[in-house]
Parts: sequence; structure tokens; C-alpha cells
Amino acid sequence: MPAPNDLVALAALLSGAGFVAAEEEADELLDCAAGDDELLDSLVGRRLTGEPLAWITGRVWFCGLEIRVDPGVYVPRWQSVPLARRAAERLPTNGVAIDLCTGAGAVAVTLITDHPDARVAASDIDERAVACADANGVEVYCGDLFAPLPLTLEGRVDVVVGVVPYVPTLALALLPRDTLAFESPLSYDGGRDGTEILRRVLTESLRFLRRGGALLLELGGEQADALGDDLARLGYIDVTVLVDEDDDVRGIEATLGEQG
Ligand SMILES: C[S@@+](CC[C@H](N)C(=O)[O-])C[C@H]1O[C@@H](n2cnc3c(N)ncnc32)[C@H](O)[C@@H]1O
Repeated sequence: MPAPNDLVALAALLSGAGFVAAEEEADELLDCAAGDDELLDSLVGRRLTGEPLAWITGRVWFCGLEIRVDPGVYVPRWQSVPLARRAAERLPTNGVAIDLCTGAGAVAVTLITDHPDARVAASDIDERAVACADANGVEVYCGDLFAPLPLTLEGRVDVVVGVVPYVPTLALALLPRDTLAFESPLSYDGGRDGTEILRRVLTESLRFLRRGGALLLELGGEQADALGDDLARLGYIDVTVLVDEDDDVRGIEATLGEQG
């Protein structure tokens, strides 16, 4: 049976299939199909398999900005918005920022939109993500964390921000059913306790951050506590644990001290 081409009926179909934001999704799919019933049928069919909506429509909204998202690329999450906004607050007008593990480049786009005169460089290890971030206008390099970034940025960076993989390997199986059916574990797998990449970022940021520069990382659960000793040993000060409105831990913000 073809997908219904009116909002109420399509929303009912999606809701019946278990999609929580059925009306918004129906609206997006109808908009994307632009009156082409055959296309709508194929888009809805893809969505019913659990494929991320953003891969089907090719876009997502982040900090009020439209971000292109190509199939295979991590879909930026609303939970990362406060971290991106806080990173933008720490970035001086003409400053320099690095967005690690940039994915589609949503955080980097937020920073450069807020600070058009700043330099924002980004990296990701996945070529599809790099191509997507590039299409979103990001200065992006392909490779492992800081490795592909220009050496001229060393010691000059005001803000290092990252939504890096931080899910403990054994917890990957607990992610929502559709997540790893479509998205790559590369986006999520943070090693044994989830902090392997986070710890590398703490250490490797020392080469790029200027004294007084800010490090902002998304993380969860007990990970902020687990990183406390490393942060102190490496010379970070003013460490703040970022929490959401439910008091759940969402990230850390730290400053590289003068003695770091
Ligand atoms: C959780 S996603 C976040 C993407 C983006 N920051 C966002 O919030 O939309 C993590 C990203 O890290 C990338 N990644 C994983 N390991 C990496 C590494 N060692 N170096 C660079 N990027 C990596 C993945 O390809 C993926 O795009």
C-alpha cells in the first residue's frame, strides 16, 4: 500500500510504527518528497526500516542551523547543543578552535557561525564524515584526532571541543536497537570504560591549546570523575562538570593552567 501523502495519515502511520515524533517526521518527509508520491513512498519505506531520518532527508537542525548529513555519517544530537554553545562562548572573536571528531561538522559550523572571524579547524577519521563536513563549509582534515591538523595551530588554540566516542565497548549492545543497525561503532566505541579516546584528547590537547585555553568534551555517567586525576596531573584547572536539566552529566569544561 502506498504511503499516505497527507500529514495526519502519515503521522498516524509513523506513530503506529513506534516513532515518537511522528508528526514532525511526517512533516519532514512530505517536505522532502515535495509532492512526488513515488519518492514519498520510498522515503517512508526507508524510515520504516529504522534508517535515521536525517540520512533520508539529508539534513538536521542543530543550534538553529541546517546541517547537511550524508548517509553513513553520525547524526548530530540535540544533547550536544549546550556543549557547542558553551564552546562558542569560550571562543574569542578572532580566536582559534579545533572541533575533534567533527562528524558532519555541526559543532564547527556552530562556532564559525557565531564567530565568522575565528578560525575553526576540524578532524574526523571517517572519510564520509570529512566529505560531509567539507560540504557544510568546515575546514576539515581526515585522520586520527590531532594528527592531520596543521602544525601551525600548535600552542595557539583557544578552544578544543569534541563529541568523541565515549560509550564503553560492552555498553554498545545497550544502545537503542536502530543505532548500530545503521550507524558505525566507530562513532560510539570509547574502549573498555569509554574513556580511552577522552584520555588521549586530554593529553594531546596540551600541544595545541594556549595557556588559558578551554577544553570542552561531551561524556557521561561517572566519566567526569574518572578523568579527574588526569586533568589535575596534566595541568588543567577550573574543571566544571556540565549537567543537563535532569542533572545528568553531559560533559566537562576545563582550562589549561599557566603551569600546565
Ligand atoms: C559521536 S560522533 C560525533 C560527531 C560530531 N562531533 C557530532 O556531534 O555530530 C564521533 C565521531 O568521531 C569520529 N572518530 C572516531 N574515532 C576517531 C578518531 N580516532 N579520530 C578522529 N575521529 C574519530 C567518528 O568517525 C564520528 O564521526
